[in-house]
This record gives sequence, structure tokens and C-alpha cells, in this order.
Amino acid sequence: MTGFFRNCAQKCDRDNPEIQMRNCLSLLLTAFVLSNSVVLRIQAQGVSIPLPAPKDFRVVGWRNVDDLRYTVAQFDSVFWDPRDTPSLRKLIRTTDLCKDKTVLEIGVGTGLLSLCALNRGANKVVGTDINPAAQANALYNARRFRWTDRFECRLVKKDKPGAFEVIKTNERFDVIVSNPPWVDRKPKTNFEYALYDPGFHLAKTLMADLPKHLNPDGRVLLAYGAVSGIVTVRKLAKQHGYGFKIVDDDRDLAKLPDEFLPGMMMEITVPEQMIRATMKLPEEKQSSSN
Ligand SMILES: C[S@@+](CC[C@H](N)C(=O)[O-])C[C@H]1O[C@@H](n2cnc3c(N)ncnc32)[C@H](O)[C@@H]1O
Repeated sequence: MTGFFRNCAQKCDRDNPEIQMRNCLSLLLTAFVLSNSVVLRIQAQGVSIPLPAPKDFRVVGWRNVDDLRYTVAQFDSVFWDPRDTPSLRKLIRTTDLCKDKTVLEIGVGTGLLSLCALNRGANKVVGTDINPAAQANALYNARRFRWTDRFECRLVKKDKPGAFEVIKTNERFDVIVSNPPWVDRKPKTNFEYALYDPGFHLAKTLMADLPKHLNPDGRVLLAYGAVSGIVTVRKLAKQHGYGFKIVDDDRDLAKLPDEFLPGMMMEITVPEQMIRATMKLPEEKQSSSN
């Protein structure tokens, strides 16, 4: 009996072009909605796809952080300690700091901060690192999360370690973040570049050239867990005429040991007129000096 009714209904459907068209349209609509929601989810939250590590690099750990849905791969010789950056990651996670923004991360390591920024809707993230394994590591994670269309990672040469050495002269960002090496000492291995910034060259070049690479209203957030590093950055901020503030932290620097965890987050504020002064075109500069 049921078979009889089904046959009748199928016959009726087959013979009725209007019903056929309606069925077809609703099928297409359902497919469209489903595929879009999958694409939107992938874009918003990433998707972890299994990928072999690139030749010459080795995964030594799969790490979890609350900020990301999937594990972060760590390559051999690449730094991992999320205790360096809890306040910075919280700010990225809980605010629109990076949403629709262009972000620069100096010293990506596994790509942790860049991935957090991409996860919270950054339009474009450019990362840099001096350790080739870190560059490969961050790219590998971005590829696993399917975020490569919004992420680029550039390798810094060891003989040109300045903060903006691989950033184009006219390249500017809405947000600049970094958890740089904290201690003034000479690194001997690729891994030690994560810990040591000889002569604080990275910190000095970073602070000196901020106005050239920041958009007006841009924000600069740094994470340090070493008193000497923080004092250096504070001094540099004063020298350059920038604002300096320790954010989301009530620990007293004077009472902390030179190196401590969790790291502290600092915000550097570059006055807008300093940024705009570096935005003038060469002709404008000439005519204004005449
Ligand atoms: C403390 S680790 C932080 C890594 C990552 N941002 C994180 O929070 O897990 C510092 C990173 O800066 C990189 N680095 C050191 N000197 C650098 C330089 N001159 N330019 C770019 N990256 C550098 C190191 O290789 C290392 O990956």
C-alpha cells in the first residue's frame, strides 16, 4: 500500500515540472546554505588538516592553548612557552583589537600570536622570524588551520637583524605585536635567538622605526618577562617621545626578579603627528621645506 502511494507521488512529481523545479531549487538552496556555513566556520575558526612537516623540519610537540580550537605544532629549535603572553592573548581573544586589521608580529616562533590574531578575524598578518625553523613552523600551522591566504611569514637575515629589515619602506600596520627575546646576550644557536637580543638591537630598531610602519591610530603591544628588557623599552619610549604603559598587571617591577613569568604586556603609544610626519610624499616634503 505504501509502495503504491510512493509510486503515485513519484509519478506525480515526475510529471509536474513545477514541483520538479521547486524540489530542485530547495535542494540547491540547502546545498548553498550548508556549504557557506562550512566555509564561514573554516574562515572564522580554522580547520586542522593533517599535513606532513616540511622536509628538514621536525615536529617535537603538539600544544594546546585556550585561544585556539586546534593544537599548535612546535618544530625542533622553536620556542614554546605561552606563559610569556597571557595578557596579550587575552586582549586579542576578548576584544576586537585585530578584527579586520593588518597585523605585524615580530618574532613569530610557532606562530602562536599570529594564529590568535587570525582566529580573531585579522585581515592580514605578516610575521617575521630570524630562525628558519620558526618561519617554517608558523607557516605550517597557518596551513593546517587553512589561513595561508591571510598570513605571510618572512625570514630575517642574521646579518641584518633589525626589526623592520624585511618590511617594505611604505608598509604600515594597524597593530604591531611582539614577544621578543628578553635578555641582552649573544645567541649561539637558532633556539637561543628566542631568548637573547644582543645589545637590545631588536628592541632599539623596533622602537626607533615605529612611526614609519604604524598606521595613524595603530597600536603597539609588547610582552616581556624581564625587568632589564622592560626598563630598556621604557627608556627608549621616553627617548623617542612615545607613551609607555604596563597593561593588565599590578605587579611592582622593583620587586620582581630580573626574569619572571607570566610575562608583562606593555603598550607603546606613538603620537599621531609623528606617524603623519613620516607619511609625507617626497614632493610634499620638498615644498614644505621651501
Ligand atoms: C620569545 S620568542 C617568541 C615566539 C612567539 N612569538 C611566542 O610568543 O611564542 C622570540 C622569537 O623572536 C625571534 N627573533 C629573535 N630575534 C629576531 C629578529 N631580529 N627578528 C625577528 N625575529 C627574531 C626568535 O627566533 C623567536 O622565535
